[in-house]
Amino acid sequence: PTTQSLTIDGEQYPSDSWTNVPPAILAQYGRKLHVQPNHPLSITRALIESRFPGFRNHNDLPGVVTVSQNFDSLGFTPDHPGRNRTDTYYINKDTLLRTHTSAHEVDVFRQNASNGYTISADVYRRDAVDRSHYPAFHQMEGALTWDVNHFKTRQDLVKQITEDFDKLPKHDLVVEDPNPTFHPERNPLQEKHHSPEEAEIIAAHLKRSLEDMVVTIFKEADKALAAAGQGSQAEQEPLKVRWVEAFFPHTSPSWELEVWWRGDWLEVLGCGIIDQPLLIRADVPSRVGWAFGIGLERIAMLLFGIPDIRLFWSKDSRFLGQFNEKLPIRRFQPFSKHPAAPRDVSFWLPQSSAPPVVNTPSSAPSPAGGQLTRNEPSATSDPVFHENDLMEIARNTAGDNVEDVSLVDDFTHPKTGRRSLCYRITYRSLEKTLTTEEANALHQRISQELVGKFGVELR
Ligand code: PHE
Repeated sequence: PTTQSLTIDGEQYPSDSWTNVPPAILAQYGRKLHVQPNHPLSITRALIESRFPGFRNHNDLPGVVTVSQNFDSLGFTPDHPGRNRTDTYYINKDTLLRTHTSAHEVDVFRQNASNGYTISADVYRRDAVDRSHYPAFHQMEGALTWDVNHFKTRQDLVKQITEDFDKLPKHDLVVEDPNPTFHPERNPLQEKHHSPEEAEIIAAHLKRSLEDMVVTIFKEADKALAAAGQGSQAEQEPLKVRWVEAFFPHTSPSWELEVWWRGDWLEVLGCGIIDQPLLIRADVPSRVGWAFGIGLERIAMLLFGIPDIRLFWSKDSRFLGQFNEKLPIRRFQPFSKHPAAPRDVSFWLPQSSAPPVVNTPSSAPSPAGGQLTRNEPSATSDPVFHENDLMEIARNTAGDNVEDVSLVDDFTHPKTGRRSLCYRITYRSLEKTLTTEEANALHQRISQELVGKFGVELR
């Protein structure tokens, strides 16, 4: 960036060598789709909130946060890959666009204003380009805690959580949960802070609450499908869910919930028992409880049958006009399907003294809009070329006219050791048919930027 500062939410931020947030992202910033009346993301948010009565709903927390809020406050290690500039949009070295709603957990706990809360907000991640990933998306955080000081003994605390558990709505869902609640290596109990009994009942309360939410959502989706004459999933196969072990720096033990939906396991959310040091940092050391994080786009895509994540950002009334928060959920009717224009770009990576480093994005095959977890470290510092850089060049150049970017060939020359990559970029507009010339021009510009920025040699 050539500018010396960025203005966001009326606030000026000096830029530095960490700055990597592009204008295209800033242009989307602040649209607050999750509270826009009759927007499918807002309808989805309200539906989930309705399953957590008594929770305080925070829907207006600003998206610019500190590195400390987004990572340190949650116990992310200094070398956690989520901190990489290849994965995160930095405004400068201390400030970034939040990558998850967990960035606000400590602040909201510190207010100590309610036992339960949700936080819904726009979040930002550098990521793959396909129909279920978009660099700006929405999450909902939910948390519930009990104050140990309200009870004479820890035994009374367990009794209370058990009573609360018994009051949760019952469901007829098939639940696969093959693992023990905690496991010394894979999914540890916070021994210093929770007894096994406490962790068991908090986990049970968490899981039952989230299962109830999923039942509600998927029953609604089924009703909408049936009304559209597309048959009910329940008639084909009963809805089932499974719990799998997970890892988050801010919960332990941790799980992900997957839902069997029309022939596929879908990752729906991440959750766990809140890391007690986090609650201590938030000045509520006597509270214990659970938290979850869910991607709203992925849920809304299922609920309404929305086939492409770019549609959520559409201002086209043919899209927005189909949703009404006062009416039962209806299936989205695609209003047009314009042809795809695929183009390949092949290039040699630059030869450097060190062997070429290619970092592929952590979450490429990850599920739609869930975008919850970040995976394995993408190795090495100072990458020559990171796949996410191509993703971003494509987005910045083609905007919402790019639908998908995938690696189709990866070849290392047996003699020279040079490495060549081929990506297929699929251009398609949601609003009109792109002409051959338009697609070619976009492709040309993207190819030239690759040469200019990374010194690749086109083949
Ligand atoms: N913050 C996690 C993510 O975005 C999701 C999460 C939230 C997990 C709360 C556990 C508890 O990847």
